[in-house]
Amino acid sequence: MEESRIDEVIGEFVTLKKRGASLIGNCPFHNEKTPSFNVSVSKGIYKCFGCGKAGNVVTFLMEQQQMTYVEALKFLAKKYNIEIVEEQVSEEKKKEEEEKQSQTESILIANAFAQRFFTDYLLHNEKGGIGLAYFKERGFSNQMIEKFQLGFSPESGTELTEAALKAGYQLDILKKAGLTSSKENSKYDFFRNRVMFPIHSMQGKVIAFGGRIMIKDEKAPKYVNTPESDVYVKSKILYGIYQARNDIRKQDECLLVEGYTDVISLVQSGIENVVASSGTALTTDQIRLIKRQTHNVTMLYDGDAAGIKAALRGTDMILEEGMNVRVVILPDQEDPDSFVRKMGSTEFSKYIKDNRKDLILFKTSLFAEEAKNDPIKKAELIRDIVQSIGKVPDPIQRSIYTQQCSERFGMQEQILISEVNKIRRARAKEEHKEDIAPQIEAQDFSANAKVHHEQLKPTIQTVEFVERDIVTALMEYGTWDILLGDDQTESATKFILEDMEGIEFQSQYKFVYDYIKSEYDAGRVHEPNHYTMNTDPEISSMAIKLLTDNSYDGQSPGWWRKFEVVLPDKERTYQKNIISATMRLKQLKNLETLKKVEDMMRDEKDEEKLLSLMGKHKALMEQKKDFAKATGTVIYRPL
Ligand code: CTP
Ligand code: MN
Repeated sequence: MEESRIDEVIGEFVTLKKRGASLIGNCPFHNEKTPSFNVSVSKGIYKCFGCGKAGNVVTFLMEQQQMTYVEALKFLAKKYNIEIVEEQVSEEKKKEEEEKQSQTESILIANAFAQRFFTDYLLHNEKGGIGLAYFKERGFSNQMIEKFQLGFSPESGTELTEAALKAGYQLDILKKAGLTSSKENSKYDFFRNRVMFPIHSMQGKVIAFGGRIMIKDEKAPKYVNTPESDVYVKSKILYGIYQARNDIRKQDECLLVEGYTDVISLVQSGIENVVASSGTALTTDQIRLIKRQTHNVTMLYDGDAAGIKAALRGTDMILEEGMNVRVVILPDQEDPDSFVRKMGSTEFSKYIKDNRKDLILFKTSLFAEEAKNDPIKKAELIRDIVQSIGKVPDPIQRSIYTQQCSERFGMQEQILISEVNKIRRARAKEEHKEDIAPQIEAQDFSANAKVHHEQLKPTIQTVEFVERDIVTALMEYGTWDILLGDDQTESATKFILEDMEGIEFQSQYKFVYDYIKSEYDAGRVHEPNHYTMNTDPEISSMAIKLLTDNSYDGQSPGWWRKFEVVLPDKERTYQKNIISATMRLKQLKNLETLKKVEDMMRDEKDEEKLLSLMGKHKALMEQKKDFAKATGTVIYRPL
């Protein structure tokens, strides 16, 4: 992948013009008239200042061209005549993989056949007329039938399987696809006499079907869905995501509903950025599918108890992913499908705008009546909201929420902050990550100071943040020189790694640090694009994230902040920043050890050992003072 030139690849799809040291064009991920989409050839990355999208050649092909990872690699291999080096795997494993791959492909092809069969049956077979009449009565247009590839499964219960066998599909595959009943010796269709809703993958492949009964029947289920398999995992897909993905990106918002018919009715009325969780409880995998397109989710749920409960659970999960969530509760007895048909699209959109509530408003409105005159209920409500705020990963976002909450309830903000912190500490402990519990405190101390983002950065002194700065510096300036005085220089990588000798990284950045270290030990130091285009997707996505982060190091303007690179500034500051980052990490380690020694002193009964501990303590305290002087920061740490 390092062979590929990002400007050449993206240039095939976007017109790029030279601007300063980078290239610039109209962003392909959102609508814009003035270009804010930047491409850096040296780093091998792009970033849009408008919508925030960033990535490397591979993510570009995956997101903009909807390719899979493998397709993107193949595309690049073809363009640059590169041979894809297949991972060394045992022959047996390889065969297994190949079989699985070809089985998956066969299932997808069988599904595509079935979809065409069902649609054809709906539109052109006399016996499918009843299905068509059903859709018509529900008000679905031909255009929607086509767009969502709706269909009808024959009442006979044999026709699909017969047609598929005749067309050469193997019974085994039809059963694995869930198109033919899996009972032994059976050649019966799995779906019978139902209107059919194909479920598409993000790439538009049919991976499953939902079949709806056309009459009200207490005994038969309303929907029958394809059984789960390697191809279809219900909790990992959202109905309508293929049709909606571009619109979600353009609107920078995703509407989330419960049912197939809700999606189709909204799209028909012109509201196209909508997907359905298909009746099941929303999962993290589903939320992450949305997160690839937008960070803003609006949930549209029924006003009944079940709908509200589902919405409550969903909001917390979306918050945990660091995304923004709003909720619209529809009037009782309405779902988005019935409501949009009643109101029309303009009124419906207006209803959403007027009634969508953020987390706090939503929870408040739910319990406001009961809580108004009952202090105990009010306390419960606040505690509940604080629980949700505790799930928000971003400290700045958290502090905004606590502020809002304090304003709305007339509570002292400090009390709320300490409640949120308590919850976060408790949870960190629960997850056996006791070591990060103290970090949370430090982080929130800064967040609650209500300072601006820029000012906030340098004061955040947590292991995680400092490790991030160091790893970023290693990737960005790894090959640059550090001036040691007397005209002596060494590479930044050597300087940092030797300075960090004996320190284990402990945050989410550890794996990148360890990778850089092992490369260095093997005699390799790399340019930034080695990381952004790394064949290990975890490394490349981390590199992209870190190297496009505007707020990194809080001081130098950063490549992305201005369209033109301000080299002199960076040259002046990068060395200082590196030294300060390594110093800060050592400072944090000093505090950690200090705390450990203090704990030991508290429990130590043996006089002699206590004395030796006190000696250690004294030395560490000296060090602590030196660090504080050197870095100019005092770290507040929990007791
Ligand atoms: N669902 C399901 N199996 C069921 C009932 C529901 O899989 N037995 C899923 C379907 O994905 C359905 C969603 O849950 O779309 C929401 O259920 P519901 O609101 O009952 O269905 P609608 O899609 O609204 O269908 P309709 O408007 O025809 O009642
Ligand atoms: Mn409905």
